[in-house]
Amino acid sequence: MNLKLLSNSLHLFLLLSFFILNVFYTVYSSRNLIQTEKVPCTLNFQNMNYTIITSQCKGPHYPRQECCAAFKEFACPYSQNINDESTDCLTLMLSNIRLYGGYPVGMFGNTCLQGKQHVDCP
Ligand SMILES: *[C@@H]1O[C@H](CO)[C@@H](O)[C@H](O)[C@H]1NC(C)=O
Repeated sequence: MNLKLLSNSLHLFLLLSFFILNVFYTVYSSRNLIQTEKVPCTLNFQNMNYTIITSQCKGPHYPRQECCAAFKEFACPYSQNINDESTDCLTLMLSNIRLYGGYPVGMFGNTCLQGKQHVDCP
């Protein structure tokens, strides 16, 4: 057996193992963070009236100005909860708006939020 070849394979093996472990560790710890950090939202976004948004923000073009204006009109009364990153209110609201209005994935989150995290309200 060629000793150099063996040593090289071992080196490669260790490198790969380290890399794979790192990936698993990253995925595992970030999922853990998300699961343990967020406090369940106390607002009942499942049963809200989304007419403000669905009546003003329509496909196929979903005009950004109208959509974001309607989005804020709906969301601003709850901005304190939504902007509290320790809760999952923002995520919950976004997924329910999407569900009720049949909007494209991530539309409001990507276009109407300040830094994709905060609802910017007066
Ligand atoms: C939702 O709100 C709209 C007005 O914004 C109202 O016309 C409609 O009746 C409401 N729907 C329900 C189910 O409460």
